[in-house]
Amino acid sequence: ATPLLIDTFGRTGRDLRVSLTEKCSLRCTYCMPEEGLPPIPEAARMTTDEVIRLVTLAHHDLGVREVRFTGGEPLMRQDLERIVAGTREACPDLPVALTTNGVGLEHRVGALVEAGLDRINISLDTVDRLEFAELTRRDRLPSVLRGVRAAVEAGLAPVKVNAVPMRATLPGAPDLLEWALEEGVQLRFIEEMPLDADNTWSRVEMVTAQELLDVLGARFDLVPAGREDPSAPAELWEVAGRSVAGSPAHVGVIATVTRNFCAACDRTRLTAEGTVRSCLFSDDETDVLGVLRSGAQDAEIARVWRGAMWGKQAGHGIGGTAFHRPRRSMGAIGG
Ligand code: GTP
Ligand code: 5AD
Ligand code: SF4
Repeated sequence: ATPLLIDTFGRTGRDLRVSLTEKCSLRCTYCMPEEGLPPIPEAARMTTDEVIRLVTLAHHDLGVREVRFTGGEPLMRQDLERIVAGTREACPDLPVALTTNGVGLEHRVGALVEAGLDRINISLDTVDRLEFAELTRRDRLPSVLRGVRAAVEAGLAPVKVNAVPMRATLPGAPDLLEWALEEGVQLRFIEEMPLDADNTWSRVEMVTAQELLDVLGARFDLVPAGREDPSAPAELWEVAGRSVAGSPAHVGVIATVTRNFCAACDRTRLTAEGTVRSCLFSDDETDVLGVLRSGAQDAEIARVWRGAMWGKQAGHGIGGTAFHRPRRSMGAIGG
């Protein structure tokens, strides 16, 4: 058997995303229900050591080249610093990234960088306090803004900010970009996917990348700049005449629905319960934590993981007739 995470479409999983918890400090309407997600029993969640062991074997035995911790909200785990430090110690040359909503980040980012965190993506959809409170069902904008600034000050450049444009927030998109340029962070807009818990997504209502570019284009002069690498979800536009830290400023668009990037997908995912998910939109999950807990060696766990990825589906098929929503919402899979 080949040692890499390849599938029948010739793609290779090199980018590992680990959801650490289903808990979150916010309740974004496109991601979580008002009451939060059903709690995972404590015993079913991966422990600090189990996360580190699975990430390490993915790096050493399966060719994974980057790990991103996500959620739910990864800051909800008090052992996040220990997870990052343990990963860094076991895998000195594996880049470690974090996707977070930024709430309370100001108090932890220093220790996270100390532990070895390399990169951070912070989710923020609007800089209008009332809009933020409505969208996230929590009045925490000031904390997130302080978190973004603390991440920049902690040296995590370039800090990326992810925004999912919705009907209500679309008119404020240029203000959000202006704010990002002033803070020196790279803003990326993500098309909303049918991964909300309340089943309100609709192809007709969703804001498309083209609409967003039209709204931004009314205030900024945008020049196409390609992708960071062929598997990167974001297409970049240079914001003409604007710079960040002396380099030309860019804004990204992640067109998950209208220009899907499944053909170049290099992602493999672990849920907080230690199951491998080959695709965001696949309900097939393979329990590698169970194999680990049964006392298996790394080689056996790696074999099961490879088997899970071999069966990865071609793509999500959103908009097509055969599309079906996955059972879990984004908050349970991790961005
Ligand atoms: P970097 O640019 O390397 O920092 O990472 P990234 O672009 O993968 O960023 P991030 O992890 O913040 O992902 C941004 C968003 O892209 C996610 O929140 C998802 O909405 C979307 N995305 C990421 N991976 C996938 C994927 O495999 N499939 C789909 N459909 N969307 C994805
Ligand atoms: N569609 C697109 N992106 C989503 N995210 C959460 N739910 C959705 C959705 N339905 C994004 C968040 C965050 C990342 C973890 O995933 O905004 O940036
Ligand atoms: Fe990859 Fe599935 Fe996302 Fe497409 S939907 S980019 S195949 S994870």
